[in-house]
Amino acid sequence: MKIKPFYTERFFAAHEFSAPYLLCASDCESLTAAELLQLADTTWETLGQLWLGYTESQGDPTLRTQIADLYAAVGMEQVIGPVAPEEGIFLTMHALLEPGDEVVVLTPCYDSLLNLAAYLGARVARWSLVERPESPDAIGGWQLDPDALARLVTPRTKLIVVNFPHNPTGCLPTRDEWRMVVETAARVGAWLFSDEIYRGLEYDPESRLPSGCDEYERAITLGGLSKTYGLPGLRVGWLALQDRPLRDQILGWKDYTTICASAPSEALARIALQIGDRLMERSRHIIQDNLTLANSFFLRWRSVFRWSRPQAGPVAFVELRNRSARAFCERLLVEQGVLLLPGAGLSPDDQHVRFGFGRRSFEAGLAQLDHYLMQQGGS
Ligand SMILES: Cc1ncc(COP(=O)(O)O)c(C=O)c1O
Repeated sequence: MKIKPFYTERFFAAHEFSAPYLLCASDCESLTAAELLQLADTTWETLGQLWLGYTESQGDPTLRTQIADLYAAVGMEQVIGPVAPEEGIFLTMHALLEPGDEVVVLTPCYDSLLNLAAYLGARVARWSLVERPESPDAIGGWQLDPDALARLVTPRTKLIVVNFPHNPTGCLPTRDEWRMVVETAARVGAWLFSDEIYRGLEYDPESRLPSGCDEYERAITLGGLSKTYGLPGLRVGWLALQDRPLRDQILGWKDYTTICASAPSEALARIALQIGDRLMERSRHIIQDNLTLANSFFLRWRSVFRWSRPQAGPVAFVELRNRSARAFCERLLVEQGVLLLPGAGLSPDDQHVRFGFGRRSFEAGLAQLDHYLMQQGGS
């Protein structure tokens, strides 16, 4: 059986490094290595001493200790990392799933969260987020449907897959809603894959949810430096979980992917986590500034877009009124050099596009889109 093509990643592979204006990135503004070292008050000499042999397969113990410090209920022995964040999804699904297993996946979603489960022969049920009606100020939003989850989960459900803050909608549940998700998994003894790659990008830090791996003994948390910390080029993510047998099974699969991490990435990740709070704050500031621009843009262009303002994270999933998202994005790229992501890989419809607010170049891209819409006469 062939795996479904990864629409979102193929789209970025084709256009990310050639489009003049990127308006849909899901990461936050990156840094140079020199900037990172300077922020952390460290010098290149430290890196010069770095041993370039194989690294420990479960991950560098110092780095794993730093990662474990982000959680309350797991120690460094229960952390696997670095893995590339996407690899963390791949490894966990391979370790857990067999043909015929029942899996519930929150949708829309980052393609691989659903495609890998389907490829492994699982029977996948979509737990769909719902779009709230627009308020008078033309702002909507996405929210959970707890009753739908209760209907979809059965005693045979093996795995529930969620991602908060959510890509692509920016949905962030309340604590009560999050407790309901965890309790639903616990009621039937299902595993809970909690993709928390955007954790730390809550607009109000008070709304940050407890991590899955701290809440539930059968949860697997995926974290990493790609989005919140602005360091996707390090390819550093991690898995944190309480369950030791599952940890060992995941490590068994890792022997067939990367075996162990890149030594320079581990070293830079240790430095990044020393200043993790500052990196997160830097990303949140950029997002807030861009969201202010986006709010007024979408109010002006309410004839074209239905604005579903995110509650957390660097992305929003915005409906295009009465037109094909694929066709709109294609023309926008060809005529104006602006890259917007059609939602085709993230959701089955052709109605939504993803905006990304984490880059400093957002303002310039938005101005180009504005110009394009004016040229079209706003229709
Ligand atoms: C929800 C989610 N999980 C995991 C990943 C994978 O991260 P990376 O591309 O750094 O491997 C992404 C990337 O966009 C994502 O949006």
